[in-house]
Amino acid sequence: MATTLAIVNQKGGVGKTTTAVHLAAGLARSSLRTLLIDLDVQGNASSIFSEEARPELSAFEVFRNREAAADLSSPTRIPELFLLPAVLQLAEVETMLTGAVDGFFRLDEWLGRAGSDFAYVVIDCPPNLGVLPVNALVASDFLVMPLQASRFSLDGIKGMLSTCEIVNKRYNADLSVAGAVMTQFNPRTAIGQAMVEHIEALLPLYATRISRSVAVEEAVVMKQTIFEYQPGGKVAEEYQSLLAEIRDGIEKRPV
Ligand SMILES: Nc1ncnc2c1ncn2[C@@H]1O[C@H](COP(=O)(O)OP(=O)(O)OP(=O)(O)O)[C@@H](O)[C@H]1O
Ligand SMILES: [Mg+2]
Repeated sequence: MATTLAIVNQKGGVGKTTTAVHLAAGLARSSLRTLLIDLDVQGNASSIFSEEARPELSAFEVFRNREAAADLSSPTRIPELFLLPAVLQLAEVETMLTGAVDGFFRLDEWLGRAGSDFAYVVIDCPPNLGVLPVNALVASDFLVMPLQASRFSLDGIKGMLSTCEIVNKRYNADLSVAGAVMTQFNPRTAIGQAMVEHIEALLPLYATRISRSVAVEEAVVMKQTIFEYQPGGKVAEEYQSLLAEIRDGIEKRPV
C-alpha cells in the first residue's frame, strides 16, 4: 500500500503546488513509483505535464463515479511519476457530493483500489477546506503544510490542524501531521525566531527552507520541474533535502 501525503493549507499562493510537484518528482527520481494527484481546479500541477495528461482520465472521475477504474492515471515524461490531473469539472464536486453519505470517502476508496500500484501518492490540494481537501485528508497518512512568511496566519494554521484532528478522530485514524515547510523563503525578511517558536508550538517545522527563486517561476513558464530546468540549483537541492527530512520522519513514525 502506498504512503500518501496531502499537501494542504487553506491559504492561497503559499507553495502547495510547487511543493507537491517537487516532492512527487523527487520521489520518482529516487525510483519510487509515485502518483501525483491534482485536486485543484486551477490545474497548476497538471499544467507542468500538460503534454502527458489525458483530460478524459482525471481526478473528477474518482468523485463522479464510485466504480472509477483503478488505472486512471497517466505516465509522465519523468520515469516512475504518474499523474491524475485536474479538470475544470472538479469545480462541480462540492455541489455534487453535498448530501452524499460517502462524499468524504471517494478518493480513499479509489486509492484502496489504485494505491497498491504506487510506493507514494502526493496530493496537491486547493486553497480551501472544502470537500476536496477533506477527501485528501481522509485518504492520507501524512499532512505536509507549506507556509509562507508574508501570507502567514497562526489562526489559519490552527484551523487547518483542527480540521485534521476531526478527520483523524472520525474518519482516518492513520492520519498524522508530518510537518510544515517554509517556502518562498527570503533570509533578508526572515520571520523572527518568535514566529518560528509559535509555529513549532503547533506542529513540527522542517529545518529545510525553500528559497524564493526566479528559477521556480521560469521553470513554470517552461512547463518544467526545477529538477529539469535547473538541476543542481539551490531550489532543486532544497527540495531534495526536504524530501530526505520527510522520508526520515515517516520511517521514524511509530506503528
Ligand atoms: N520557491 C519559490 N520561489 C519563487 N516563486 C515561487 C516559489 N514557490 C512557488 N513560487 C511561485 O509562487 C506562486 C504560488 O506558488 P504555488 O502555486 O506553489 O502556491 P499554491 O499554494 O499552490 O497556490 P494556490 O493556493 O493558488 O493553489 C506560483 O506562481 C509559484 O510559481
Ligand atoms: Mg496550488
